[in-house]
Amino acid sequence: MPSMANSQNRQPNGAVSNSDARRQYMQQILQHRKSLPIAAVENRLVEEIRNNHTLIIVGETGSGKTTQLPQFLFKAGFCRNGKAIGVTQPRRVAAVTVAKRVAEECGVQLGQRVGYSIRFDDMTSGSTMIKYMTDGLLLREALLDPYLSKYSVIIVDEAHERTIHTDVLLGLLKKVQKARSQTANESLNSDRAMTDSDSKLEKEQGADLVSSLKKCQGARIPPLRLVVMSASLDARIFSEYFGGAKAVHVQGRQFPVDVFYTKGPETDYVDAAIMTIFQASGDILVFLTGQEEIEAVEGLLKEKLQHLSKDKQNLLSTPIFASLPSEQQMKAFMPAPAGFRKVILATNIAETSVTIPGIKYVIDPGVVKARNYNPRTGIESLNVIPTSKAQALQRSGRAGREGPGKCFRLYPEIEFDKLADSTVPEIKRCNLSNVILQLKALGVDDIMSFDFMEKPSRMAIVKSLEELFLLGALTEDYKLSDPIGHQMARLPLDPIYSKALILACQFNCLEEMLITVAMLSVESIFYMPREKQDESRAAKNRIASLEGDHITFINVYRTCDDFLAKSNAGSSKEKTLKNMRKWCKENFVNGRSLRHARDVHSQIRGHVEQMGLRITSCGEDMLLYRRCLTAAFFMNAASRQPDGTYRALASGQVVQIHPFSVLRGTKHDCVIFNELVRTSQNYMRNVTRIDPLWLAELASHFYAAQD
Ligand code: CDP
Ligand code: MG
Repeated sequence: MPSMANSQNRQPNGAVSNSDARRQYMQQILQHRKSLPIAAVENRLVEEIRNNHTLIIVGETGSGKTTQLPQFLFKAGFCRNGKAIGVTQPRRVAAVTVAKRVAEECGVQLGQRVGYSIRFDDMTSGSTMIKYMTDGLLLREALLDPYLSKYSVIIVDEAHERTIHTDVLLGLLKKVQKARSQTANESLNSDRAMTDSDSKLEKEQGADLVSSLKKCQGARIPPLRLVVMSASLDARIFSEYFGGAKAVHVQGRQFPVDVFYTKGPETDYVDAAIMTIFQASGDILVFLTGQEEIEAVEGLLKEKLQHLSKDKQNLLSTPIFASLPSEQQMKAFMPAPAGFRKVILATNIAETSVTIPGIKYVIDPGVVKARNYNPRTGIESLNVIPTSKAQALQRSGRAGREGPGKCFRLYPEIEFDKLADSTVPEIKRCNLSNVILQLKALGVDDIMSFDFMEKPSRMAIVKSLEELFLLGALTEDYKLSDPIGHQMARLPLDPIYSKALILACQFNCLEEMLITVAMLSVESIFYMPREKQDESRAAKNRIASLEGDHITFINVYRTCDDFLAKSNAGSSKEKTLKNMRKWCKENFVNGRSLRHARDVHSQIRGHVEQMGLRITSCGEDMLLYRRCLTAAFFMNAASRQPDGTYRALASGQVVQIHPFSVLRGTKHDCVIFNELVRTSQNYMRNVTRIDPLWLAELASHFYAAQD
């Protein structure tokens, strides 16, 4: 067979047919774009955005909001002044997949005119004009560019999800928009007039914003257009928040979906979901609560398929959840091979953020994993809770995108009536220390009077301020401390992890802490298939540390690294991946998670290096490392009670060691942990034993006050 280069050089026909295929493909894309409901209102939307500084767009999932609106605005000249269109998404997956899709639709290379930027992964360049990013990332950008001066339009997408970052971002954008309108007006006025309004602004906005405003005045930043897009039909709250902003509804295209309920409550919805998968006949979308559950279902499906006759094995399952590497996420979007049915196992990511083509059946167990924060105890936990009615409706809607569909709700109909109408915004149910730290770094000193769309409780704000103070990020008068507070705000991590890295530098174990933080940012490191329980447990025991999960994670990370270094010095990325898969399989380590952790590691390492922190290792001295863990996570310490349970020292709650912890079944006086998961009990995850005396020594400011 001739090589590609030859065939193209010598056979012009071949080349022509290539470009024909390309032209045909672009034609198809154009057809698809034209057929989307939003295409019919392109001119109207562009006019509305020209005429209104803020516009709310409400439209059903799949109507074309996310992929099309930025292209309409680009075409209409909103980037002509060299400014970009920014589109925020609550989820990383959505930012990546949509950017890829839009680059393809525009016929450009990803990272050129169309790009994305998410934490730990930047695919943009100087020429990027349509930039998809997470809402959290735009908040971080505001730290460096308080006026978001490189954007002419910012589209806050999926606003109905009301993530904590979306809520804070909306508050910030409201401020920026006001200030930028003022700059635009004032650049026409005299110096004297500017000084007057400076002092007015200074009172309103805080000194930091005003000083950067002065710097920007020469540049004459145009006013900022803001578009808030939501899939929920209720535009009122957004409109009211933005002073009665205009709202436009985009018609969706929804086919009827038959909804079925179970007769009685299901004791095991995973089993029920699997049974239902085998009863449906087309492509299926199953909503599950997280990576662990998704992987368990993947395993169970495989097992079940093996016992079926060959003709019934035509089922292909693909997972999709937030921390899945993006090439793997893309698999969910591809059509199943001919003769196969596709089963997408998804978290609530697939409710509205991403649209997966071809779905006819939806299986909805009616639960979701959600963060919950108790400001009284200061403890945040991850719980599996019932969805809201709005979520249930979004989920069933996924079945009727391309034709009539069916949705199986795995609970009785009377339960549906009991569900809350909509989900409580995240800002009302999570620890605020991360956003408070960022707001402080943005110069918003008075958190209580910040114009939140929905104000978190006073108690939650006070508790988070207290926590930041205990971590050393705030001074006694609640100002950002120097250098610790500023350093912590620069790291894209939860404050407690940022602090752990800063401390580790002082303890000379930053190398170990970088691995720890990376490994703690992924959901499950060990893989325990039901059919190989003994084998997988033995593998875990081989690598486990008696001291606890943190050192165990370091062992996993390093052992794999050593293996890779030995087996493929200097070889290609593919070879490394192959070797890694092999090692993970043999050691019952979740390859997906470990890969993700390695990515996160290299990114955080980059940040830490940039900050000038010295990266050293404590070598064999793991006692030093455990002392550092204690100094960092002292707020999450628990001590053993005579009855064998543990009590969290900060809150007094009764807690237990999680069954997946390597310390399960051991008896230690005192432990620290990273996460509390509430199911039937309060479980501590990621646990390491410590000496109780270290708490008094290394966190005397906290524990002295407790006595
Ligand atoms: O934002 P909204 O839910 O209104 O729609 P969208 O995300 O812009 O998607 C519009 C259509 O584009 C979908 O119905 C899909 O057919 C297609 N699309 C796709 O094929 N691949 C993607 N990654 C995203 C969208
Ligand atoms: Mg969308």
